[in-house]
Amino acid sequence: MCMCPHKFKLALCLAAGLISGCKQSTSVAAQTADSPSRGRAAIRTYGCGKCHTIPGIRGANGVVGPPLQSVGRRTYIGGNFPNNPEMLTRWIMAPQKLKPKTAMPTLGLSESESRDVAAYLETLK
Ligand code: HEC
Repeated sequence: MCMCPHKFKLALCLAAGLISGCKQSTSVAAQTADSPSRGRAAIRTYGCGKCHTIPGIRGANGVVGPPLQSVGRRTYIGGNFPNNPEMLTRWIMAPQKLKPKTAMPTLGLSESESRDVAAYLETLK
């Protein structure tokens, strides 16, 4: 019965079409995609820098947890979890779900905030 999601998509496409000749369903997607810059903001909001040294984040010079410099190049995170955007997102959202005894607290980031933060961390090569 409810056609809302479909209609919503259609409306977005039409709106994009009005502006750009509809070659750009990608530009609509880009606005909802993971955003490293929103991730940087979330890193500040949630105080990750109190425990981690994080390049590109002013005042993020904590030494409680490992430095996140070059985390985008690391093979494993949290000791033995393969480093990829999905795993990083899960770690940031709820580290204890992956590693019950980890000292990193669950800070209450939503899934989309966690994805944005992971997207930023992925840029640290
Ligand atoms: C209270 C201190 C603390 C806070 C706050 C904190 N972390 Fe951590 N974090 C840790 C500790 C300790 C570890 C090491 C955990 C382990 O390996 O079991 C860790 C590990 C990590 C790792 C894995 C790094 C690696 O190479 O193994 C990532 C990524 C990470 N934290 C990101 C974040 C982000 C993003 C935030 C903010 C949303 C954050 N942390 C907030 C303490 C903290």
